Amino acid sequence: MATTTDELFQVDGKKCLKCGLCVQDCAFGALRMDDSRTPVMAKPDACMRCQHCLAVCPAGAVTLDGIAPEQCISTNGLELPGFDAAANWLRARRSMRRFAKEDVDRETLDRVLRVLGNAPTGCNARSLTFTCLPTRKAMERFKEAFITTLESHRDGSRLLPRWLAVPAIRLRNGVGDIFFRNASGMLVVSTDETNAAVTTPHEDVTIACAHFELLANAAGIATCWCGFLGLIQKEVPEILERTLGLRRTAPFYAVLFGKAAVRYARGVRRDAYARTIYWEKP
Ligand SMILES: Cc1cc2nc3c(=O)[nH]c(=O)nc-3n(C[C@H](O)[C@H](O)[C@H](O)COP(=O)(O)O)c2cc1C
Repeated sequence: MATTTDELFQVDGKKCLKCGLCVQDCAFGALRMDDSRTPVMAKPDACMRCQHCLAVCPAGAVTLDGIAPEQCISTNGLELPGFDAAANWLRARRSMRRFAKEDVDRETLDRVLRVLGNAPTGCNARSLTFTCLPTRKAMERFKEAFITTLESHRDGSRLLPRWLAVPAIRLRNGVGDIFFRNASGMLVVSTDETNAAVTTPHEDVTIACAHFELLANAAGIATCWCGFLGLIQKEVPEILERTLGLRRTAPFYAVLFGKAAVRYARGVRRDAYARTIYWEKP
């Protein structure tokens, strides 16, 4: 159902300070001040529902697309990680290569996935789908379908490449799981690239995965990016369609997760690996 302009942007006249901050913060000039210095939605088609007008309003006067200020967290005194905490996380975080046998607590996982919807997307397209395999049982079912799909894949007379065929046989025989690292869960983030509003599909899914890693680690869940799945889909385009019901063309990325079986005693040293160039015009 289409949102009318009135439903899209509402201002509580008793609270509005007429400061114009909402108009100034609107990325595409969808808002303007009217003759009585009240903000109005002038170009609803330009509104990307980013809620900046709602967020910036010091008086809590703006409701955007049905979201009222009372439904949002206040930034006053909000507890945020300080620089040291954020830097320590980046230095100490590790890709988990060995996961414990137990499943992750569902309530914790739910909390993480609910917050994850806040990850930013280009032009605020918000077209992400989180397909979560939450348990070892779900992973086993997925892996069965995964191996069956690989076994039945036919691409003319071309065989699966060795890097894929050998680990697949090992997985079938239960003697190794290099692709999924025996994780008890996996999150596949995908987007709808057929939606014209999605301007940055690959960035959107990657950013959501990066935020998942951060939030999951903070909640005590270990993670490991699953880059293999993308490589495998290039060889076997039907893989995620057959296993998880995702469209073949949907951009995606996956992160494995579970309880850690290893505790890393220290971080690593690679602060200086990336080259930094401060480019300032002479
Ligand atoms: C985009 C991306 C894809 C990755 N894919 C895999 C993967 O398929 N399997 C795996 O074991 N590790 C994977 N990794 C983990 C990297 O090997 C790891 O980040 C790197 O060796 C550095 O180790 P660290 O993450 O513990 O710092 C991936 C990492 C990234 C960022």
